[in-house]
Amino acid sequence: MTLVQKINKLKKEKNAVIVAHTYQPIEIQKIADIVGDSFQLSKFCAANDYDTIIFCGVMFMAESAKILSPDKKVILPEIDAGCPMADMVDTAGLKRLKKENPEAAVVCYINSSAAVKAESDICCTSSNAVDIVMSIDNDKIIFVPDRNLGAYVASQIPEKEFTLWDGYCPVHDELRRESVEKLKREHPAAKIAAHPECRGDILAVSDFIGSTKAILEYVTTSKEKEFIIATEIGVIDRLSLIAPGKTTYLAQVDMICADMKKIDMEKLFISLNEEKYIIELDKDIMDRARGCLERMVAAV
Ligand code: 13P
Ligand code: SF4
Repeated sequence: MTLVQKINKLKKEKNAVIVAHTYQPIEIQKIADIVGDSFQLSKFCAANDYDTIIFCGVMFMAESAKILSPDKKVILPEIDAGCPMADMVDTAGLKRLKKENPEAAVVCYINSSAAVKAESDICCTSSNAVDIVMSIDNDKIIFVPDRNLGAYVASQIPEKEFTLWDGYCPVHDELRRESVEKLKREHPAAKIAAHPECRGDILAVSDFIGSTKAILEYVTTSKEKEFIIATEIGVIDRLSLIAPGKTTYLAQVDMICADMKKIDMEKLFISLNEEKYIIELDKDIMDRARGCLERMVAAV
């Protein structure tokens, strides 16, 4: 039996589902039952009939799946797959910020730990951040941990006052405008599609700004043929599968998330076969974090 056949057999026997983020290696995307952005995957994990969720992504995603489906077994095939941005915010610092800004609502990007979610009022993803902040009555917002997404949301909602945590995604934050402009000079017809985790000076020259799912939709439905993609390379891999007629250029060669690439087919097989690594969370933290995630799912 091939590895693919073994994985599919185990999946059936265990009534398991494989979910994968768009930044996963292409072979994982191909075998997954659902591939999507953070919001799509959260919604799927909140309501499905499987006993086990194999989450091919990083820790905060698997944690969110567990929080939304506490009775299911949630498995992350690589325990060391984390998110440097999620690790940039801690609960002690957030509690301090809340004390200094008692009237502010805390909006946390889904790229955060369960403990940080437990301290936040509502969660958001890159696909709904503007709508989530608009849905809140408070005029003051504490936004954690992504300063770039926070600044983008603030630019769309000037009537609210934002306090931004100084976190960032290294993959997106290290993209330089010169790289994008060089590609644009080489391919003047190419449209620029950027993820809002990029810096403001990149977003300012982009034709389209959106989550990974939104970027995929923009490229596939556009009548244009060439695109500069300012997000992780997994989106380009996905486009080569679903839109082979389009030509894409990665905005900068190093836009690769090492953590997202830690899962491979062998680890996926082991995760099903040996049921590792099962996500376990403190019940109190989970219960408090659930409110934060559920309010997001209900709001948009
Ligand atoms: P989305 O897929 O929700 O756009 O998120 C991007 C990301 O950085 C996930 O880590
Ligand atoms: Fe975290 Fe950035 Fe990797 Fe997403 S791409 S998991 S935000 S480090």
